[in-house]
Amino acid sequence: MNFPQSYPLLPVPSGSLEIRELPILSQAGDDRPLRFSLIIPTYKEAGNVAKIVHQLSTILDTEMPGEYELIIVDDNSPDGTWEIAQQLMPEYPQLRVMRRIEERGLSTAVIRGWQVARGEVLGVIDGDLQHPPETLLKLWGEIKRGGDMAVASRHVEGGSVSDWSFVRRFLSRGAQTVGLILLPGVVGRVSDPMSGYFMVRRKCLIGCTLSPLGYKILIEVLARGRVPWIGEVGYEFQEREEGESKVTAQQYIDYLRHLLRLRLSLGPIGRLIRFGVVGFSGVFVDMAVFYLLRIHVDLGLTRSTILSAEVAIFNNFLWNDLWTFGDISRQQPGKRQRLRRFLKFNTVCLAGIILQTLLVNLFFNVFGMDQFLAKLVAIASVTIWNFWLNLKLSWRVTDVKK
Ligand code: GDD
Ligand code: MN
Repeated sequence: MNFPQSYPLLPVPSGSLEIRELPILSQAGDDRPLRFSLIIPTYKEAGNVAKIVHQLSTILDTEMPGEYELIIVDDNSPDGTWEIAQQLMPEYPQLRVMRRIEERGLSTAVIRGWQVARGEVLGVIDGDLQHPPETLLKLWGEIKRGGDMAVASRHVEGGSVSDWSFVRRFLSRGAQTVGLILLPGVVGRVSDPMSGYFMVRRKCLIGCTLSPLGYKILIEVLARGRVPWIGEVGYEFQEREEGESKVTAQQYIDYLRHLLRLRLSLGPIGRLIRFGVVGFSGVFVDMAVFYLLRIHVDLGLTRSTILSAEVAIFNNFLWNDLWTFGDISRQQPGKRQRLRRFLKFNTVCLAGIILQTLLVNLFFNVFGMDQFLAKLVAIASVTIWNFWLNLKLSWRVTDVKK
């Protein structure tokens, strides 16, 4: 069916998944600012899309008529979900539709929708009616009470998962437990971190570049956003009437990868872990060069130790400057600054080499330890020394470019 151009699909954003300030919008017409933008990610929801648009519109018209938008972000569903949604537009002027061809995935669909959204508050709801639309008004009530975020939870009063199988309950709670272990400061902030039904003030996300994996967009927002106050409301996760869940083992694997990626990128522990990962790579460089010098060049023990350690230092500086302390280095760009950091890093590490050489000789000559084990133990001891001193000296934020 040829559809009149007056109901075009939304342009699909590309590039980084950064949420920006609302562009200066005119106060009239199609690009005026709104109070609320609700993203509905869809994949093969042809049987649900008309129903959910109708139910959401009916409910939101009672609360904020003309001040909200529904944005369906469909990943080129083979059942034509996006076309059905587009044909609904004449009847629902607050409905906008995005059809993605290249990029796929639930959480990036939500973020791309937020990137074109005009609302001060950004929300997400599943497109399969498993999230009761009427819960929206309770969520909005939390925002009106001053909440920065409002999450629909299956694990607070009034919440439940209808008649999920034991396996599904076990998997969901198991995933939550792993999240609490790896990211207690993030996953522990809400009772249902697996929820995909929530709303958040745009100001909490402005300037944040999100990099989610898989389904769990809420964890990404909690980890990278600035969300002081979170309200929760209970809801009953409904059974599907049409279509089926797209959750596969891949979503669980993505979830674990997502947790690990966040663990590695958040806070001082994340930095220490990154420093340790870089140091670990340096161990291989150090040991390989040490082996070459000792076995193939027949160089003496001390000179082999020092030379191999120096090569490893250079390797470690490069990775630490790019990754471990990348956020600080990028504030201090330029060759001269980088050379200064390298010289400080080298000085700290040279002290570490001296300490390492003393330890290797102590362990090898005094305690009779195997030379390679002595080297490994010495490296581990010096790594902590290096991290702490480098954090305090080499990458301390000094003259940051304004
Ligand atoms: N655009 C897009 N692209 N939408 C998707 C994709 C995708 O790759 N995969 C799934 N969706 C849409 C579905 O159409 C549905 O609207 C919603 O995302 C949830 O997908 P389901 O496959 O129904 O997931 P579920 O029923 O197992 O729900 C679980 O995950 C949801 C998302 O986190 C539960 O944990 C829910 O609480 C949660 O909201
Ligand atoms: Mn579902």
